[in-house]
Amino acid sequence: MQSLQDKASEWSGVKREDAFAIDEVNLFQKLGLQTFVNLSTKFYNRVYDDDEEWFRSIFGNSKKEDAIQNQYEFFVQRMGGPPLYSQRKGHPALIGRHRPFPVTHRAAERWLHHMQLALDETPDIDADSKDRMIKFFRHTAFFLVAGDEMKNQNLQTQCKHGIQQSAAP
Ligand code: HEM
Repeated sequence: MQSLQDKASEWSGVKREDAFAIDEVNLFQKLGLQTFVNLSTKFYNRVYDDDEEWFRSIFGNSKKEDAIQNQYEFFVQRMGGPPLYSQRKGHPALIGRHRPFPVTHRAAERWLHHMQLALDETPDIDADSKDRMIKFFRHTAFFLVAGDEMKNQNLQTQCKHGIQQSAAP
């Protein structure tokens, strides 16, 4: 059976080793905290202003300020900085934390569209860092899509099982 990582590589078009090239350089040391704050602020400003209501509404139950903080703290921690996210919220467990949301192929592409533009609008991020980050984001986005599909399959299995059980005498 194909692993979630394999599906992420296939769907994103990003090989696993390219996705984790973020670990070859300490991007936090290179870019600094404020760059990550700026990136997440630009990203979520775009998301909360998105003309595409179907995408904007996925974030409807989150406060923008909280979403920004959650995101940049995770990025800082994942890209070589202090574990700000885990100190405040525990293990990132990204698939589990995205469980309430419809993380479809289309949603991943929209998320990545906004992130690409946010990266382009953040001049402190040099071309090499940007390339590493976008590959990591692309692979992770489709890893989350694979997790979402697994969730939906599990629900279907449970549902069928439930029907069989209730039909039994
Ligand atoms: C694929 C499309 C994606 C969708 C539709 C999506 C959607 C969401 C939503 C609705 C939230 C809640 C906002 C909040 O309260 O923080 C969230 C949180 C978060 N997302 Fe995503 N996301 C996607 C991709 C990603 C990717 C690629 C990453 C990492 C590279 C990521 C990392 C996070 C993190 C760290 C949080 C905070 C989780 C928490 O503390 O509860 N997401 N996402």
